Amino acid sequence: MIVLVGFMGAGKTTVGRLLAERLGLPFVDTDLVVEEQERRPVRAVFADLGEPAFRDLEEAAVRETLDGPDAVVSLGGGACGREATRRRLDGHLVVHLRVSLPESLARTSGDSNRPVLQRPDLPDLHTARQHLYEEVATVSVPTDGRTSDEVARDVLQRIELDRAVRDPEDR
Ligand code: S3P
Repeated sequence: MIVLVGFMGAGKTTVGRLLAERLGLPFVDTDLVVEEQERRPVRAVFADLGEPAFRDLEEAAVRETLDGPDAVVSLGGGACGREATRRRLDGHLVVHLRVSLPESLARTSGDSNRPVLQRPDLPDLHTARQHLYEEVATVSVPTDGRTSDEVARDVLQRIELDRAVRDPEDR
């Protein structure tokens, strides 16, 4: 299982799909799991049920996905806000795709399916979340100014190195 975390616009879905393809694994995006279960887009879940209800659904979706078959998994940008989720990530290969706030905004501009982008405290949220992502991550990869393909290749290299360090006898 490879789990991708990071702020909105980090490229978790795009890079996740590339990694899944290259590793021959299925790709699971926990936002899509929630959308399929709820039969409506994330923005409608926020609008109809409120953010706390979305976070409950998201936490359950992450739990079910991590308990499921091997996959490349992309978590929504706010999923690591739940302590239970951070604990569940312990022992997993977790990749933090780092993105600065300006680049995140440039990549997501005009996306109406991300209600959190409207928050007035977005810069503080971005800063606070970096600590959470780094706390759970075993590998941290910069994405600013790089294509998804470059990022995916970097992730694969770093995962190899990470594995070699953890299991030197596998080499
Ligand atoms: C959110 C990020 C979104 C989605 C929801 C809330 C957040 O996922 O889960 O809009 O709180 O940062 P992405 O990170 O895939 O955009």
